[in-house]
Amino acid sequence: MNKSRIIVALDFSAAEPAFDLVSQLDPQLCRLKIGKELFTATGPQLVERLTHDGFDVFLDLKFHDIPNTVAKACKAAANLGVWMLNVHALGGKRMLHAAREAIPQNTTKLIAVTLLTSMDQNDLNDIGLQETPEQMVYRLATMTEDCGLDGIVCSALEAGSLRQHVKSDFHLVTPGIRLEQNNTDDQKRIATPQAAINNGADYLVIGRPITQADNPLRTLQQLNQTLEVNN
Ligand code: C5P
Repeated sequence: MNKSRIIVALDFSAAEPAFDLVSQLDPQLCRLKIGKELFTATGPQLVERLTHDGFDVFLDLKFHDIPNTVAKACKAAANLGVWMLNVHALGGKRMLHAAREAIPQNTTKLIAVTLLTSMDQNDLNDIGLQETPEQMVYRLATMTEDCGLDGIVCSALEAGSLRQHVKSDFHLVTPGIRLEQNNTDDQKRIATPQAAINNGADYLVIGRPITQADNPLRTLQQLNQTLEVNN
């Protein structure tokens, strides 16, 4: 059984480079995240092929629409055999409940994005929201848990305090991970894999530190080993 906490972000614009990378990986050693760019370019066939090849796929499409539409989209995603999928918590309680009802517990993992980390106080004010980004994240995380979803996406730096507020089996999925030797690329608030786990993260979304590594498989093996030995 796959015990890896690492979700490799397949941030590619076409199927070929994605398969090129995936052919170097092992479904027992990681999971894969497919986002809007790759999914829009390649369609569901890519998801079906990767799940058929034994990979756990996190379909990161961040659904946000009226409850009925989101419920149906979630169902369609789950029918592709994905391991995890997500919606926007900002869609509201009724939308989250509808998504949960469409995806029974203990099947596909259903998580929510709270507030996009790209949004700051000015962005919130622009759309008429007066709370701070931190307050919004807590409010939306709690609401997501209350609606019975399985977890949230959050920054590794927020994970520590969020972990105090949510149940131990509520998944915290954290991007913005960098190894000590990496440059930060365009990420601003980063954490090392170990720091993210220490803060209570369950799964780490890692893109370029693995996809751009000289040897992606070796990097993945080393990461898994470090996390296994220390936790
Ligand atoms: O290459 P890198 O490790 O920065 O990739 C991180 C992945 O996590 C990308 O797919 C990015 O879109 C996603 N992500 C993020 N920050 C968020 C939410 C998602 O970096 N707040």
